[in-house]
Amino acid sequence: MQSITVKAPGRINLIGEHTDYNNGFVLPAAIQNAAVVTISKRADDQMHFKALDLNEELMLDSLASLQKSEKQWANYIIGVIVQIAKKHKFQTGFNLEIKSDVPIGAGLSSSAAIECAVAYGLNELFGFGINKMDLAFMAQKAEHDFAGVQCGIMDQFASIFGLKDQVVLLDCKTMEHQYFPLNIKGHQIVLFDTGVKHALASSEYNTRRNECEAGVKLLQVKYPEIVSLRDATINMLEECIDATANPVVYKRCKYVIEEIERTQAATEDLKANQLFAFGQKMFATHNGLSELYEVSCPELDILITAVSNDQNVIGARMMGGGFGGCTINIVNDNAVQDLIATISRHYQEQTGKALTHYLVSIEDGAKVI
Ligand code: GLA
Repeated sequence: MQSITVKAPGRINLIGEHTDYNNGFVLPAAIQNAAVVTISKRADDQMHFKALDLNEELMLDSLASLQKSEKQWANYIIGVIVQIAKKHKFQTGFNLEIKSDVPIGAGLSSSAAIECAVAYGLNELFGFGINKMDLAFMAQKAEHDFAGVQCGIMDQFASIFGLKDQVVLLDCKTMEHQYFPLNIKGHQIVLFDTGVKHALASSEYNTRRNECEAGVKLLQVKYPEIVSLRDATINMLEECIDATANPVVYKRCKYVIEEIERTQAATEDLKANQLFAFGQKMFATHNGLSELYEVSCPELDILITAVSNDQNVIGARMMGGGFGGCTINIVNDNAVQDLIATISRHYQEQTGKALTHYLVSIEDGAKVI
């Protein structure tokens, strides 16, 4: 095989936010928006990358010249190649063209889509035989090392393992996962995009990780067997972390411990068709993310407040890392168009910004097309 085209999607996450790097549960699904990469072998060792949407190119002489680029889009590609090259030998260079319709900065994992498309495509083209789980880990490591975000595994996992019309409950401690159909008959998933991505998003993300680790250290004083917040309970938290002496760490841990529990309960609601109960938990997650974890922002809060008393919105919350991006809303079919019109008007009045929306369909994860 000399050339291959692969598609890897962005993702939504129904519930379980900021739980992945705490060994908790997440409930993501792959969506219709995806990165598409075409890779073909070359006769020499060179690597030619093209970002079709940006009309930009980068040429590297050989694997020896792989290092961080000033072009951020190229770093996602280089980061993945570096990971693969640690264990596998590229027989030749290659040309790689990429385009994507995953909106950037919307919290839909546009970077994971690129990383996964590249990892999946190179693995297929060169026949490395890397399994899907390792591809996801390599893509995650690329994000750590080349984008500087110490992300969890959710985004790359969803982009690779997604299945049409299914959500997947992933246990980030064991990587065990379970698919089930998203049965929300009579409702649609609507994303409202704030159109903002506050600059502190990635630095604050890494700070949250550190705060959670600080919490684990405090818990270990009494409970040395605790490895991550997944192993902790609210009672342990109350015993070990003083909310007055350590208010920030206390709040972060409280949110995560509650969210891990809530995600499991919410999954049961969904499976049992208890949509109302599920939706209430989405609102509770938003409150936790806003008040305790403090990763929301005024734009996201405006969007959630605006739908919170609307009978046609079963549940809503900010989605992804935070500090901008989208809210995810489960909306009564009949009310979708009116809601979009009302919320768009409201958002414009409150923030002066235009609101974008996306109607989600759940699709397969990475595959050759
Ligand atoms: C980003 C990260 C994920 C996850 C979410 C928050 O999308 O890439 O690993 O931590 O934020 O749930």
